[in-house]
Amino acid sequence: MNNRFIKIIFAIVIGLWSATLLSQGEGIFDEYRDMLGDDNPAIFVIFDGEEIWYAPAGPKSASLEQCDLGLGPGVVEGAYAQLPRYFADVDRVQDIEARLEHCMIQLQGLAPDEVSAKPYSLRGDLGTQLEALVAWIADQSSGLAIAPGQAHAQEKSAYALGETLFYYRAGTHDFSCATCHEQAGRRIRLQALPNLTTHEGAAAAYSTWPAYRISQGIVRTMGWRMRDCMRQQRMPELTMGSEASVALQTYLAVNGAGASMTAPGLKR
Ligand code: HEC
Repeated sequence: MNNRFIKIIFAIVIGLWSATLLSQGEGIFDEYRDMLGDDNPAIFVIFDGEEIWYAPAGPKSASLEQCDLGLGPGVVEGAYAQLPRYFADVDRVQDIEARLEHCMIQLQGLAPDEVSAKPYSLRGDLGTQLEALVAWIADQSSGLAIAPGQAHAQEKSAYALGETLFYYRAGTHDFSCATCHEQAGRRIRLQALPNLTTHEGAAAAYSTWPAYRISQGIVRTMGWRMRDCMRQQRMPELTMGSEASVALQTYLAVNGAGASMTAPGLKR
């Protein structure tokens, strides 16, 4: 059977499951997650991501093999765990998404608009190339400690900006991230809200993204998670790889530093 066919079957089965799960809440979801054990459907997306990395693409017909994710050109193992970090060639701090975007433009000759046109899947899609790449790259850091860069001045200011944004109240509801994520044991409807201001909370969250979302049948990235939470906050749409997105992820990564990466995780 080919990969695509298996994915479609998975999407259907998981879609049916999730309808039941969503009507029953977190308890049943935990049971389901235990049942799946190590069998995370993200595995198919990881395979895709690896293929995409090595496949020639774009006007320059180049693969991403020469992309430097921070540990040198082509080094993927362990790279995700050390992001976001400062990259001298662009003189800014980048997360995995901003870095991949940069490599696609530089190495493959793709136009910036083309690369950023549709980074994340819409509901019902089978996943974007970016999502697959991020799933594979994160998997290559599985078991390694979260260790984002904090030596460079720009890395420190990314953290400071992330912290400011986390507590910044705005929008029609005057929410900040902290409104929903500063206390333990709270929930919205059936969804538990993690306290992201503690090391434990940030580590549990950061280490498990990107994640396969059972309710959507696709792998979502941490950048997407930030964007979707901004939406919940009734803020303008967060741009993939933007300064704000990178800063928020830096804030979470630094707060969770030292914990082991286990992504791709499995989420509701
Ligand atoms: C209105 C409430 C609300 C606001 C405001 C909010 N979030 Fe969330 N956040 C949620 C909910 C609900 C979930 C869980 C979603 C789910 O289970 O589907 C979540 C999940 C998350 C997760 C994943 C946790 C995990 O363990 O998987 C992260 C990280 C996160 N939010 C970060 C943020 C950041 C950063 C902001 C500010 C930009 C923010 N959130 C603003 C409600 C909110």
